[in-house]
Amino acid sequence: MKKILLFCDPGIDDSVAIMYSLLDPEIELVGIVTSYGNLTMEQATANAAYLLQLAGKTDIPVIRGASKPVQEEAITIYPGIHGPDGLGPIEIPEEFQYQIYPFDTIRYLIEKYKDELIIVDTGRSTTLATVFILYPDQVKMVNSYYVMGGAFFVPGNATALAEANFYGDPTSSNFIVKTAHNLTITPLNATQKAILTQDIIDAVSKNKNNVFAPLMDPIFKYYYEFYKKSVPGIPGAPFHDLLTVMVVKNPSLVDYIHYDATVIESSEAKGMSYIDYRPTSKKGKTKIAVNLRYEEFVKEFNKVMLQE
Ligand code: RIB
Ligand code: CA
Repeated sequence: MKKILLFCDPGIDDSVAIMYSLLDPEIELVGIVTSYGNLTMEQATANAAYLLQLAGKTDIPVIRGASKPVQEEAITIYPGIHGPDGLGPIEIPEEFQYQIYPFDTIRYLIEKYKDELIIVDTGRSTTLATVFILYPDQVKMVNSYYVMGGAFFVPGNATALAEANFYGDPTSSNFIVKTAHNLTITPLNATQKAILTQDIIDAVSKNKNNVFAPLMDPIFKYYYEFYKKSVPGIPGAPFHDLLTVMVVKNPSLVDYIHYDATVIESSEAKGMSYIDYRPTSKKGKTKIAVNLRYEEFVKEFNKVMLQE
């Protein structure tokens, strides 16, 4: 059983990562920490809590994280990709209420699960960096870290050079890639290939055993509309954060290179990630996913979401 504490900004692909984590019998989601990113921290929190309520898992703590990055006052959010409230066209009922746990719950969860705990971060790095600063002894107890972010010598998505999570708070991202032990990064190199298509979504939508089935088609269509415009000819939409969670349980879905990464903090290259890839450079400890076994990815998605 993989015990995951998920840092995220749901957001459509974060939301599907949450759904997958809740439905996979081999994953135990022990908490969700929400931050600004795709949308505001407040909206991301409501969305995470809403998904938990749909799944009848309101016992899983929801913890509010950062509402802005360290370098900037204002945040940029992305309703054009994720919808006005972050779940495509779906609106959470106005009367929806939920409980928020204090930030220190993160320390409690790490101390409870120690080296069984896996931290996955599919949002901006600000909150996780804060955890490293606040709880330096506890973060060493964690088994491993998985971070969705970066684009290594492939085009970015926030800028020509930078991927959105690393662009959002490059100082915190650089701190995390330099500090977290047992770190796996899933950059755009792999996640841009983690494409779900309409036929895959149709099958999940028809599955009466999946509590999230009614959400799948509207959120997919919304998300895909954006990708059709930004990547002409793309056959579906890439679910970056879903792949990042999947890799925890299925490491062989992707190929890795082993290098230590750097994220550029300022200048025109802000948020750009790189490794020293020269033939004689020293290999590092970080695992960076660079390729995806696509058929295996779809098979695994269907196994969990169709409950096959
Ligand atoms: O670049 C992809 C990442 O940015 C994903 O985590 C997505 O949710 C967005 O935040
Ligand atoms: Ca995300």
